[in-house]
Amino acid sequence: MDKRTIREADIAGKRIFVRVDFNVPLMDGRVTDDSRIRAAIPTIRHLLLGGASVVLASHLGRPNGKVQDGLRLRPVGERLTQLIGRNVPVTGSALGVGTEDAVKRLRPGELLLLENLRFHPEEEANDPEFARQLAAYADIYVNDAFGTAHRAHASTVGIAELLPAYAGLLMEREITVLSSLLESPEHPFAAIVGGAKVSGKLDVLTNLLTKVDVLVLGGGMANTFLLAEGKAVGKSLAEHDMVDEARRVLADAKKRGVEVVLPVDVVVAKEVTRGTEYKTIPADKIPASWHIADVGKATVDRIEAALADARTVFWNGPLGVFEIPSFAHGTIEIARFLAARADAGATVVVGGGDSVAAIAQQGLASKMTHISTGGGASLEFLEGRTLPGVDVLPDQAPVKVAAKPRTRARA
Ligand code: 3PG
Repeated sequence: MDKRTIREADIAGKRIFVRVDFNVPLMDGRVTDDSRIRAAIPTIRHLLLGGASVVLASHLGRPNGKVQDGLRLRPVGERLTQLIGRNVPVTGSALGVGTEDAVKRLRPGELLLLENLRFHPEEEANDPEFARQLAAYADIYVNDAFGTAHRAHASTVGIAELLPAYAGLLMEREITVLSSLLESPEHPFAAIVGGAKVSGKLDVLTNLLTKVDVLVLGGGMANTFLLAEGKAVGKSLAEHDMVDEARRVLADAKKRGVEVVLPVDVVVAKEVTRGTEYKTIPADKIPASWHIADVGKATVDRIEAALADARTVFWNGPLGVFEIPSFAHGTIEIARFLAARADAGATVVVGGGDSVAAIAQQGLASKMTHISTGGGASLEFLEGRTLPGVDVLPDQAPVKVAAKPRTRARA
């Protein structure tokens, strides 16, 4: 990674504004998945132990510039307090005299969390005055919010232009791991791409095809590829207007010699609900009134055979309707298989909501090489796009090469 990081910053006695991505799921006022909070702790600890005081800032949800009590960051502050073993007060607002005072009172080794930045419309508008107000809190800016690096907002871009800016340790790890997938993956390299829709993943498929040896397609988006192959998909979720694009992806894969694995058998259901009737059938015999809800066992076997000697695997998106236990088998099997591959020394990188949830639910998270905290951000990165929140961070200073001692001319 060529961005300068907090390891290079002079932090003792400084007040540091740290943009984190604490956009985590909540239920009944409690955090239900704290992975993003845990992932930011190494950066926060590094700064506090180095004698800095820390002003944390994040968004939560999409409140559209208005205060929404259900999207206040208090439950996040409480969870961070438990995890880090220090009190993390949450301010009443990201701006205002009370917040300015609380920031000024911070001593080295202390931290606080600003209230949800997106309660202010100026955040998403990358408003210069809002960025200036945030910048006034600190001497140094750190971006550790990889999950939000694809947004050009006041706290990810505007402020980085006003203060000495550095990447946090999570940001550094995400960029290092995801860049290595694009630049120097160990082959064979396989990508498993699932989830509901082709439309949101077309660009990442197009870019991955230039890198991978094997491409596995699953989830609702595979239905569009089955249509492209001339198969009927009954009442299954599919994007009929994307069939031509799916054909283009398949033709491109063929031209490049990429092995594409599509479902050969599927679990079909009368309705995509709990307690419904379901059965496993070949993927070319789907009855008109049934819905595809998961991949079948023969498909899982085929995927495992195609990935048996993979040295690098990237996985994004579930292979079935993972939220319903009867249709989660394909996704769970692949999660277990990938954990075993990682144990055997393969690099396994997982990005994106439900595939990460499947891994966490099976207690397999620690087995994987890297679980990205970015959903949209990791996909945009793997599309080969520049993320504004990364782009704005300064590069590392070039390493100074000591000048060669001159050989003395002989007299
Ligand atoms: C995410 O959850 O992907 C990030 O926090 C970004 O959230 P956003 O899509 O609402 O900008």
